[in-house]
Amino acid sequence: MSLTNLFRKRHKTVCFTTPSHSQKFFITSKFQQFYKFDISETDTHNPQAALKISQEKASKIYGTKKTLFLTNGSTSGIIASVLACVNKGENVLIWDNSHQCHKNAVELAGANPIFYTLKKNVDWGIYNSITAIELEKYLSNKKIKAVIITSPSYEGVVSDINSIKKVCEKYGAYLIVDEAHGALYPFCEKLPQSAVNIADFTIQSLHKTAGGLNPTALLHTTTDLDVESALSKISTTSPSYALLMTIEKNINYLNSKKGRKKISELVENIQNLKKICKSVKFFEGDLTKILIKKENLTGYELSEKLYENGIEDEKTNEKSTMLICGLGTDKRMLNRLEKVLKKI
Ligand SMILES: Cc1ncc(COP(=O)(O)O)c(C=O)c1O
Repeated sequence: MSLTNLFRKRHKTVCFTTPSHSQKFFITSKFQQFYKFDISETDTHNPQAALKISQEKASKIYGTKKTLFLTNGSTSGIIASVLACVNKGENVLIWDNSHQCHKNAVELAGANPIFYTLKKNVDWGIYNSITAIELEKYLSNKKIKAVIITSPSYEGVVSDINSIKKVCEKYGAYLIVDEAHGALYPFCEKLPQSAVNIADFTIQSLHKTAGGLNPTALLHTTTDLDVESALSKISTTSPSYALLMTIEKNINYLNSKKGRKKISELVENIQNLKKICKSVKFFEGDLTKILIKKENLTGYELSEKLYENGIEDEKTNEKSTMLICGLGTDKRMLNRLEKVLKKI
């Protein structure tokens, strides 16, 4: 039984259970529908029925050993991955400018963070990826139990995961890939290769690019390690059923003909924008990010001008401005952006 069917069955039963609103007492009437979906059937700590089946189906879709549904963002997946493969006192190699959850994960595991720095692309004000050669320098110097890579970066810089994995294997280190911004990758050949079948752990936020609700995410592993226990240690025993159900639907949509077509169209629309719009420079990285810069303007000034014309960007630095695209970015939005870029 899928999570959706379980929900239908549950609604035909009179439940003397949590949650106490019983799906019909709405303190905030605006969220009526949300209350209706808020049931307590599922135990993510020991999934037995619908969730177990749904996660197994997801793992088949992604070609992983296990795929776990996360209702507390990629943050929880990264922490669980580190807890699953690292013991107290061991070393974990992390980027000194990574998302704060990487360092928190290492701290929670009682391990030691060893930091690597990345070279800056001064033209664009963003960081380059780490190469396998650079990584080997760190791994050959110190015993490292796990490495965390962010690929793609916030701005869309992608790493060569295959060669990085080979180096990790050579030195017996687990590879954890923070693919929070790459949840569309497994479903479109025009996008970079996903790490889901390569790294030991890959974590993706569905809410960032794949049209999911905040903070839905996925934790994929190619190992047999007990990542479920690690996740249990940091998770509530009352996960949001509504969120779990949207995760199931989200994955099925991404994997469907319709979903794949939608992703492909999004990529084509962005490629077209880049082709026809000559008033700014576009960074060549992950196509789902539009990283732009304009001569004689700082990134902040460009961001300001976009904002004055009704366009809000995601992140800006001294040199460039970044706009995130995802399943919700339609042609109308891109046309509007094109007009504004031509105007400024
Ligand atoms: C690179 C990167 N990793 C991890 C995270 C955490 O993801 P989440 O918000 O899904 O917990 C973020 C969020 O901004 C991020 O940008």
